Amino acid sequence: MPGVRGPSEYSQEPSRDPSLKEPFNAEPPRSALVSSYVTPVHLFYKRNHGPIPIVDHIENYSVSFTGLIDNQTKLSIKDIRPLPKYNVTATLQCAGNRRTAMSKVRNVRGVGWDVSAIGNGVWSGAKLADVLELLGIPKLTSSTVLGGRHVEFVSVDRCKEENGGPYKASIPLSQATNPDADVLLAYEMNGEILNRDHGFPLRVVVPGVIGARSVKWLDSINVLAEECQGFFMQKDYKMFPPSVNWENINWSSRRPQMDFPVQSAICSLEDVQMVKPGKVSIKGYAVSGGGRGIERVDISMDGGKSWVEASRTQKPGKHYISEHSSSDKWAWVLFEATVDVSQSTEVIAKAVDSAANVQPENVESVWNLRGVLNTSWHRVLLRLGHSNL
Ligand code: MTE
Repeated sequence: MPGVRGPSEYSQEPSRDPSLKEPFNAEPPRSALVSSYVTPVHLFYKRNHGPIPIVDHIENYSVSFTGLIDNQTKLSIKDIRPLPKYNVTATLQCAGNRRTAMSKVRNVRGVGWDVSAIGNGVWSGAKLADVLELLGIPKLTSSTVLGGRHVEFVSVDRCKEENGGPYKASIPLSQATNPDADVLLAYEMNGEILNRDHGFPLRVVVPGVIGARSVKWLDSINVLAEECQGFFMQKDYKMFPPSVNWENINWSSRRPQMDFPVQSAICSLEDVQMVKPGKVSIKGYAVSGGGRGIERVDISMDGGKSWVEASRTQKPGKHYISEHSSSDKWAWVLFEATVDVSQSTEVIAKAVDSAANVQPENVESVWNLRGVLNTSWHRVLLRLGHSNL
């Protein structure tokens, strides 16, 4: 692609914050997530399936629009920037968030994430619905005259899973052309130009959907009759039942995962945390997919027999109401509760979304061989002892 290239080795990776846990796929310490509603760029998790692309000549960069549309064209950043700019606060979450806990039940394949393969960003750019309209596809279209029903995003990075080819994914055209779905061609994150790790010069952000569909370093956007046939749509990021193993797996029997389910995690405490007897503050995040708000976060100190409700906030000083126009519908809420601890015990968090979907009690019931979508009740063990908490 002009101006941007995907290297085949890792010698030119950007430098990253030393607190991030892994060199390439990086997550911050869980405590960092609850210190601000908007996750700072340097602490935002990074999930890259290949070396980070290099922009040699930004003035030469353009994204091609091809496939089942009348106006096949190329748009540069200069063409996209004058379009109405939207700032969408949206939580991006890797489908493999909390995989490590799932792998304790039985072995799973994938990057071992704790609870921090998630972050809340303010993404700025043009709405994909506006861009497609510019190219002759009206808003709220589910099929083009030429039979296009899906929008595929193709990158420039080289991934071994694609045999050295680029990362790609697709979403339905009906979602891409729906202005309320807030799908962005983003060039900024938290008010700054996107950095290389997060997709410079242009990425798609698909709010409410697993992070895998928010393709970075866009090369082309193709309108297709069928969904994208790439590895990450067809042979990965699908949710299988616990009975499926690597011998009997049939990838085509399941749909690519899109919306993420209701999720929460305690971030102010490690999995085993020493505390002194007395009051302990419990803080974490809760989020649901598909634009559903968080109705409740419950905390239990007795294995789920009784619960207290945590307080929820988005913007500091502003009361959060699920599904209200003043709330960021694609964003997490931060929760907080104070509990009395007099003995060693387990603390549990579970969230309920606006459709009354509840996190499942046990990780065993959602175990799957790829270790995706571990949304089971989040548990941490408190041990009485010497601590600063
Ligand atoms: N886009 C490209 N081109 N290459 C990738 O490896 N990873 C995807 C998605 N987009 C990926 C990509 C996955 S699995 C996730 S979870 C998000 O990017 C992570 O976005 P972030 O690194 O900006 O946090």
